[in-house]
Amino acid sequence: MATKGEVESTARRYRGRLVRALERDGLLADPRWRAAFADVPRHEFLPRFFQPATPSAWTATDCTDDDWLAQVYANRVLVTQLDGDPERWTAARERGQVRGVPTSSSSMPAIMAVMLEALDTADGDRVLEIGTGTGYNAALLCHRLGAGQVSTVDIDAGLVAVATERLAAIGYRPTCVATDGAKGYLPNAPYARVVCTCAVSAVPLHWLAQTRPGGVVVTTLNRPLGAGLVRIEVGDGPAGQGRVLADDGRFMPLRAHRRLVDERLVSTLRAAPGPARDTELTAATVASPASPFEFFAGLALPGVVPVSTEDVLLLIHRDGSWARQHSASGRHTVTQGGPRRIWDEVERAYDQWRGLGRPRRCRFGITVAPAGQELWLDRPDGPHRWPVSPIE
Ligand SMILES: C[S@@+](CC[C@H](N)C(=O)[O-])C[C@H]1O[C@@H](n2cnc3c(N)ncnc32)[C@H](O)[C@@H]1O
Repeated sequence: MATKGEVESTARRYRGRLVRALERDGLLADPRWRAAFADVPRHEFLPRFFQPATPSAWTATDCTDDDWLAQVYANRVLVTQLDGDPERWTAARERGQVRGVPTSSSSMPAIMAVMLEALDTADGDRVLEIGTGTGYNAALLCHRLGAGQVSTVDIDAGLVAVATERLAAIGYRPTCVATDGAKGYLPNAPYARVVCTCAVSAVPLHWLAQTRPGGVVVTTLNRPLGAGLVRIEVGDGPAGQGRVLADDGRFMPLRAHRRLVDERLVSTLRAAPGPARDTELTAATVASPASPFEFFAGLALPGVVPVSTEDVLLLIHRDGSWARQHSASGRHTVTQGGPRRIWDEVERAYDQWRGLGRPRRCRFGITVAPAGQELWLDRPDGPHRWPVSPIE
């Protein structure tokens, strides 16, 4: 077993490697955020976590395992809680594996770096973080701004208690509160910056109301297709306008904004009979974060949920419509059912996207106002606008 000194020195070396990788990828440019990532010990916040064994089963890792530190400092999301149940980690350790849906994690460092840089903070800024989780991101904020400027909230009181202790153990005492972050945290408002490390279906107006005019809100939209990391500049009152960032962020949703897909429905649709026809579009074009079309597909197909299982992409809508796309030996086919032909809609959206010049995510923007929220292409008052609904 490594001594504390050995752990610290290996951790420092791994942190240096992570920081260099983030810089090389163009995700970390501000020297003050660089210093935060280089100094803050992520391993203090991740003494134990889950690792995926299959798409729905998890194994448990802890600080006694050989690869623990290497995993902690890999540029990877590390799941720390399943189904809101703190006992699952022990069960996974005993049984080898458990199934479950992640309900808390330490986000991927790359996406944390993108969001923190997008905040564009200045010394003295007061910041609210929604989604304390492990406390690691709050520690980065404390390093940059001083703990007195940082408030962090999480809906899960158990997580907040543990994160508060771990933050204090490395010398940070920000305001940590167990509350529903959808309402912001009024006692320490107004904030210069609000950052949400879970995803929201629509941007809560409370966040804008609690941010000073000219302040910034950074959050991910919880859209089933295309997600969308947005940076909003706040105007007077609970309103603002901003851009979709070029880099994508996928986060677990705010608990009230979760959308669970029924596994039985997925098995039924995987086997549902019906005529298949050829298509030129593949799963990689329609539903992969790497595809430049994916964001537009999400706008054109509100409420359509993608489920990728092995060799098949399913698109499912709660109105009962579905499409099953399959690729084998270079041939792409699709089968559709229900009241609408979802794949026909995907193909029409793809043609429209090509006609618009194949816009990438950074050509889209967002307007948030009490009267409603919209995503738009190029101009807030232009012809291409899509409503952002609270739950699609
Ligand atoms: C991806 S984790 C946050 C990671 C965290 N920032 C870190 O550095 O470890 C998302 C967190 O959002 C929290 N959450 C979900 N719904 C919430 C809500 N309504 N209000 C506040 N927090 C919420 C979850 O409990 C979870 O801990």
